[in-house]
Amino acid sequence: MGLILKIFIPLLGLALAYYFYSAPENFNEEMLRGKRVIVTGASSGIGEQMAYHLARMETHLLLTARTEAKLQKVVERCLELGAASARYVSGSMEDTTFPDVVVKEAENTWGGLDMLILNHIGFSHFNYFNGDVEHVRKLLETNFVSYVAMTVSALPMLKESDGSITVISSMAGRIGTPFIAPYSATKFALEGFFSSLRHEFIIEKVNVSITLCVLGYIDTDSAVRAVSHAVWDTPAPKEECALEIIKSGALRQRELYYPPRLVSNLLLLHAIAPDFLDSLIRNNYKLENIRRT
Ligand SMILES: NC(=O)c1ccc[n+]([C@@H]2O[C@H](COP(=O)([O-])OP(=O)(O)OC[C@H]3O[C@@H](n4cnc5c(N)ncnc54)[C@H](OP(=O)(O)O)[C@@H]3O)[C@@H](O)[C@H]2O)c1
Ligand SMILES: *[C@@H]1O[C@H](CO)[C@@H](O)[C@H](O)[C@H]1NC(C)=O
Repeated sequence: MGLILKIFIPLLGLALAYYFYSAPENFNEEMLRGKRVIVTGASSGIGEQMAYHLARMETHLLLTARTEAKLQKVVERCLELGAASARYVSGSMEDTTFPDVVVKEAENTWGGLDMLILNHIGFSHFNYFNGDVEHVRKLLETNFVSYVAMTVSALPMLKESDGSITVISSMAGRIGTPFIAPYSATKFALEGFFSSLRHEFIIEKVNVSITLCVLGYIDTDSAVRAVSHAVWDTPAPKEECALEIIKSGALRQRELYYPPRLVSNLLLLHAIAPDFLDSLIRNNYKLENIRRT
């Protein structure tokens, strides 16, 4: 108890003082007007919603995903909403040459880049791990290695603009949960890689911010289709989630938790009572609805 009083309380005081004195400036939509932004996985879900918010904020947009027909529609809508410009490149991030193709498109069109928003994920089953090693290898390429490759290609432009990188992660990138082992692995990989890279940027005075977004369950069609039969939770709205991601990137925050209360509480519980949290997690599934495939 003495130790807690002597060390913990002053540390807490310091942490609070630091938190309040370094409170970030407020978000203002003007911050983004005219910025050149790449959004990956922008044909549906959270990526599509980010594109619409960014369009309203009058940014220049380069969107990417595999399905050309969907991207065309999203681009049209972005132009209606007020985007300074909007275009797309279609292709698969499973193709190791594609990340560079996307970044080159930005370079050729704009000659620079301000924000890189990495959001896409490849399809993965929600089920017991079935031993498919090849799937894990491919998913790592799509969900993780392509993020690294996009970052490497875009870095010269981002350095020049004092730009930002926003990486969409998940609770599953911080805490293990069942039935998504390959997906979870790719998100842990992102967290490790980009947290390490953030240190190096600071050490080397590279003024490119890295924001990691830790998301809970969001109401996108694909997520609802994959898990609604197996969990009790209600998903949070993708429109608000998309806006919070954009704000956190524009404010150059270290990380975003969304929904904030839920994610903070789970991470705190994970730190102080991991076994207890694990049992809560396992009790949260309707196991009878999950059949081995
Ligand atoms: N929704 C949630 O509950 C939730 C929770 C935590 C974290 N997140 C994270 O939030 C992000 C967005 O999730 P979401 O729910 O919005 O997903 P989504 O609706 O399924 O969107 C995924 C996007 O990635 C694209 N994509 C799929 N395979 C691809 C490939 N091989 N190459 C390039 N693009 C590909 C899809 O378009 P095409 O099919 O046209 O390629 C689509 O635009 C992801 O990083 C996800 O991990 C979501
Ligand atoms: C880093 O970039 C941000 C955003 O452009 C800018 O506000 C800040 O002053 C820059 N910091 C340094 C040290 O150049």
